[in-house]
Amino acid sequence: RPIAADSRPLFAKHIVVTAGPTHEPIDPVRYIANRSSGKQGFAIAGALAALGARVSLIAGPVTLPTPAGVTRIDVETAREMAAAVENALPADAAVMVAAVADWRAAGAAEQKLKKAAGGVPSLQLLENPDILATVGHGPNRPRLLVGFAAETEHVVAHAQAKLSRKGADWIVANDVSGDVMGGDTNTVHLVSSDGVETWEHMPKADVATRLADRIAAALQAPEQ
Ligand code: CTP
Ligand code: CA
Repeated sequence: RPIAADSRPLFAKHIVVTAGPTHEPIDPVRYIANRSSGKQGFAIAGALAALGARVSLIAGPVTLPTPAGVTRIDVETAREMAAAVENALPADAAVMVAAVADWRAAGAAEQKLKKAAGGVPSLQLLENPDILATVGHGPNRPRLLVGFAAETEHVVAHAQAKLSRKGADWIVANDVSGDVMGGDTNTVHLVSSDGVETWEHMPKADVATRLADRIAAALQAPEQ
């Protein structure tokens, strides 16, 4: 039975997207962070909004304009991002694109650390909450939960391990062994319990529209 083409297949769906890095303060002028421009996550948020979704974009510190039709919540640290995500739920889907810092400095200094003759300061690190895993194993788990994984080796194997560890439906595994960081193209593998789909090298904007189409298709399928 043919179905009429629908240009807003995500109308009335709420989707949470995380993007960018997080900054974990060491002192008022220094921080720990992952490399992330936020471009891929912002493109995905925009592509989902273009399909009619209500998008809550939880953004770490980036210098990017807010995509049209997207509600943006700016955060700085992983713990702030975790709280903002919990606050934004429930949602029909969540796409965790953020490069969350795995660790933060225990007890950030209130004043700027100064160089001293006594030697270099030592940093004690604490593990940050895993936002994706918390949502994946929590009571507000969206129907479709998508994670990202930037890997430099064993890309698909690492992504498969993350699927179950984090309770995600899909992991978009990103090969960052080249010069993807900050660039405008991406090579990704869509890893799910159905198997692995390798997408050709393409602009981040195309990864975004393709992923948004797949999300729309998944949310339109009858619930299992
Ligand atoms: N993620 C998260 N919160 C964290 C760390 C990661 O939500 N504290 C999410 C990322 O947004 C991404 C997915 O988990 O969607 C995978 O992130 P990644 O850094 O690849 O996974 P880790 O479990 O941190 O493993 P690794 O040791 O490879 O960094
Ligand atoms: Ca990590």
